[in-house]
Amino acid sequence: MVVEDSDFSGFDFDDDEDGFEGGSQSERVPTGIKGFDELCGGGLLKNRSYLVSGNAGSGKSTFSIQYLHNGVVEYDEPGILVVTEEDPKNIRENMKSYNMDLKKLEQHDKLAILDSQSAKVGIPTDEEYVEVDPFDMDSTLKRIVEIKEDIGAKRCVFDSTTSLGFVSDTQKQLRINFLKLSATLSAIGLTSLLTSEVLDKNRMSRFDMEEFVTEGTIRLYNERKEGVRSRSIEVYKMRGSDHSKKINPFEISSKGIEVHPKEDVYF
Ligand SMILES: Nc1ncnc2c1ncn2[C@@H]1O[C@H](COP(=O)(O)OP(=O)(O)OP(=O)(O)O)[C@@H](O)[C@H]1O
Ligand SMILES: [Mg+2]
Repeated sequence: MVVEDSDFSGFDFDDDEDGFEGGSQSERVPTGIKGFDELCGGGLLKNRSYLVSGNAGSGKSTFSIQYLHNGVVEYDEPGILVVTEEDPKNIRENMKSYNMDLKKLEQHDKLAILDSQSAKVGIPTDEEYVEVDPFDMDSTLKRIVEIKEDIGAKRCVFDSTTSLGFVSDTQKQLRINFLKLSATLSAIGLTSLLTSEVLDKNRMSRFDMEEFVTEGTIRLYNERKEGVRSRSIEVYKMRGSDHSKKINPFEISSKGIEVHPKEDVYF
C-alpha cells in the first residue's frame, strides 16, 4: 500500500506539556464547564455516549447536570436527566446551591427529569416523567425516546448506571444492557453522559467493563493527601479525538465545577 502525503494542516503537533494541542475536526458538543472543553479539543463528539466515573461524592452528578444546564442556557440544547437512585426533588434542591434552577428549565420544556427511582423502591411520585418499569431496560429506553421527541432533546444524562446491575442477571447481560443503552442514545441523536460509581482509585468503572462499551471515559478523583481531599479530573479515553493526558485539578463552588487545566496534581 502506498501512503500519500497526508494533509495535516488543520492539526498542530507542537508538543505542549502533555503533548496535547488540539482536537479532530468532528462536530463538537461543548460541555460549557469552565476549563474542561479545552482538555478535549472543544468538547464531546456529537451523538456519542461517555462514561463519567468516580467515587462517592467526587462530583459525577454535578458535572453531568451542569453539562445539561449549560446545554440549555448556553447552547439552546434541551436535555433529559434519567435519575435512577435519587429523588428528583432532592436533585432540584441540590442544584440550587450552584444557582442552577432546574425547575425553570423544566417549565420551559428544555429539561425533562425521568424519575426511575420511585417505582423501583415502591413509593408514590407526582413527577411528570416517571418510569413505571425501571427493571426493564427496553421500557426505559422507550421512555427516553418518547421524551426526546417531546422536548427535542440533544443531550442526555443517565445517573447512575450502577442501577443496570439490578436489571442484569449475568455479567454478559450487564454488558449487553450497557452497550444497548450507550448505542441507543447515540443512535437517536443524543450526546450523553453515563455516570458510574467506582470503589477504588485504580478502577475506571463499577463493573470493570463500562469504559470498553462507551466512546470515552471522564474520571473524577477526590483523593486524600495529608489530611485534605483534593479533586481532580482526567479524560482517560476519547475515541476519535486527541485529548489531554494530564490529571487536572478542579473545584466545586457555588458556581459548580471549574477545571484548572494549567495546574498540576500530585497524589
Ligand atoms: N455549593 C457547593 N459548594 C461547594 N461544594 C459543594 C456544593 N454543593 C456540593 N458540593 C460538594 O459536591 C459533593 C457532591 O457532588 P456530587 O453529588 O456531584 O457527587 P457524586 O459523585 O454524584 O456523588 P454520589 O456518588 O453520592 O452520587 C458534595 O459532597 C460536596 O463536597
Ligand atoms: Mg451522584
